[in-house]
Amino acid sequence: MTDRRLIEEALPLARVNVESAREKSLRHGHISTLHLWWARRPLAMSRTVVFGTLLPDPADDARRKEILDTLALASPFEASIRAEKINPLRRLLADAYPDGPPKVLDCFAGGGAIPLEAARLGCEVTALDLKVSGNWDGHVRWLELVIRHCAALPMLPTDVRRGDAQ
Ligand SMILES: C[S@@+](CC[C@H](N)C(=O)[O-])C[C@H]1O[C@@H](n2cnc3c(N)ncnc32)[C@H](O)[C@@H]1O
Repeated sequence: MTDRRLIEEALPLARVNVESAREKSLRHGHISTLHLWWARRPLAMSRTVVFGTLLPDPADDARRKEILDTLALASPFEASIRAEKINPLRRLLADAYPDGPPKVLDCFAGGGAIPLEAARLGCEVTALDLKVSGNWDGHVRWLELVIRHCAALPMLPTDVRRGDAQ
């Protein structure tokens, strides 16, 4: 382990870019179908970037490749609610943060893609936004909903423990 983060070395961008582009054509289940937001970032890219920013780089080429492969497999929208795809990422973060879940603050949360994916990865999330148009109250409630709903997803066990990565 080093002080460098995974994102400073590599991300599985070829796969993540494809999955990010594909999200634009999804019509069922994606948060864009529940709440319209003009600048929402793709969930695949948000998940990847949050994970890559939080995880220390393993400083080992073979291990890094394994992690990047795991990250790529977790990037499709359909993987969002597949415990076998998401939990390996949660376990890696749990191992990297032995004192408790990493805290993620998104001051410009917009449509909530980044806090949503941070919550999905098991982080403690705070999200806010200065909404300049539309319904402020509704927007704050939307952010609360995406974070709480995701953190409470039943298929993602809340008892992922340190030491059981892979
Ligand atoms: C590009 S959008 C963020 C998109 C977001 N990452 C997503 O995936 O939906 C930038 C956001 O910053 C917010 N914003 C702009 N100025 C702000 C400020 N001073 N304080 C808080 N939020 C602000 C805007 O309302 C807008 O929602």
